[in-house]
Amino acid sequence: MDAIIPLSHNVSCQQLREKMAELIPEDAQIQTVLELGAGTAGGALALARRFPQSTFRVTDVSPYMLVISQHKFNKVGFSERASFEQVDARHTGYPDNSFDLVTSSLLLHETPKEWTPKILKEMYRITKPGGWVLYADTYRGEYALSASFQEPWLDDFIHFNFEYEFAKAGFTELHYIPYAVGLWYMVGRKLER
Ligand SMILES: C[S@@+](CC[C@H](N)C(=O)[O-])C[C@H]1O[C@@H](n2cnc3c(N)ncnc32)[C@H](O)[C@@H]1O
Repeated sequence: MDAIIPLSHNVSCQQLREKMAELIPEDAQIQTVLELGAGTAGGALALARRFPQSTFRVTDVSPYMLVISQHKFNKVGFSERASFEQVDARHTGYPDNSFDLVTSSLLLHETPKEWTPKILKEMYRITKPGGWVLYADTYRGEYALSASFQEPWLDDFIHFNFEYEFAKAGFTELHYIPYAVGLWYMVGRKLER
């Protein structure tokens, strides 16, 4: 995308990640972070800057994305803080209650509708009690149909009630935050037992 939209894509993506990271309070106890469908890890990098004590599992189903992610972590001197793993977000293989924060962005508009509840349930399973979920994605509702936005599963995606889906997966204290045209965030918690 940076190559297709060279002047603005990098800058707008960076802003999106920084704003997203700010949704988790600075004094939250975030030691372990998992990013699913990380792409080139812009989300993980923003969180790594906000929570300097935290360590990361940066994951994607594509090994090519992981190579770029690793390069970006190395470039800013964060290589010791992250591992890079090829993982399918539907069944990650991590033990229950593993991470203080599970994050992802722009993943669910890429997946068939049957996958969405599975991925959210998996995110919940591997979040520690008291931990956080942080998610961002793009257009919702009929507006998306008038935007020049082409994706094979778009019709499914835009009709999801994501507040309901995150709650159904088990998350509580959910906040849905429309950030800009074509962008929204969701932040929530997994209850302490
Ligand atoms: C639109 S990109 C978003 C990348 C990044 N999160 C961002 O916000 O820039 C979607 C990413 O999801 C990954 N992906 C697609 N299906 C996946 C799955 N089942 N499990 C994990 N990653 C997946 C793709 O390889 C791609 O890197």
